[in-house]
Amino acid sequence: MLKKVPNVTFRTRVRDETIEGPNPFRWEDKTSDDYFAGKRVILFSLPGAFTPTCSTYQLPDFEKLYDDFKAEGVDEIYCVSVNDAFVMNAWASAQGIDKVKVIPDGSGEFTRKMGMLVAKDNLGFGMRSWRYGAVIDNGVIDMWFEEEGYSDNCETDPYGISSPQNILENLRAVKKTEAA
Ligand code: BEZ
Repeated sequence: MLKKVPNVTFRTRVRDETIEGPNPFRWEDKTSDDYFAGKRVILFSLPGAFTPTCSTYQLPDFEKLYDDFKAEGVDEIYCVSVNDAFVMNAWASAQGIDKVKVIPDGSGEFTRKMGMLVAKDNLGFGMRSWRYGAVIDNGVIDMWFEEEGYSDNCETDPYGISSPQNILENLRAVKKTEAA
């Protein structure tokens, strides 16, 4: 059966130059359709903004490989995390990210409905996302890359299956098979 991404509303913060003062941002609600309808996208999800593996490898490597993904027919790359819009924007800004788009899932509703919400109370994090990546076509999951060992309060942080290098390699392999 085709699995569609859940239909939720994300509460984002966007810059608005018409707002005066030191904080020219406003709330802008975006739905799953706004992000996924009519596009082929990569979505990757991670346990938290500003955490070491996510900041050192996963997010910057997706940014570096953005053009390679575009060459494989990907329209957008999205990074989602159970963090609010202020944290996600601050993280993207601190990392100098301008190609990958961050999606704040502060309430965890999207992650829960994807079946990927896990407890990370062992780290004082509360409920967060298990690491996964996906190729999503017009809102339908086409390829799925989930780290092994999905569990609450996992003592390790497996990373590899959802890396940009692995997802790109798989996209290229599919293209080669289709061309043969
Ligand atoms: C990391 O990205 O390295 C990390 C993620 C979650 C908890 C601790 C570390």
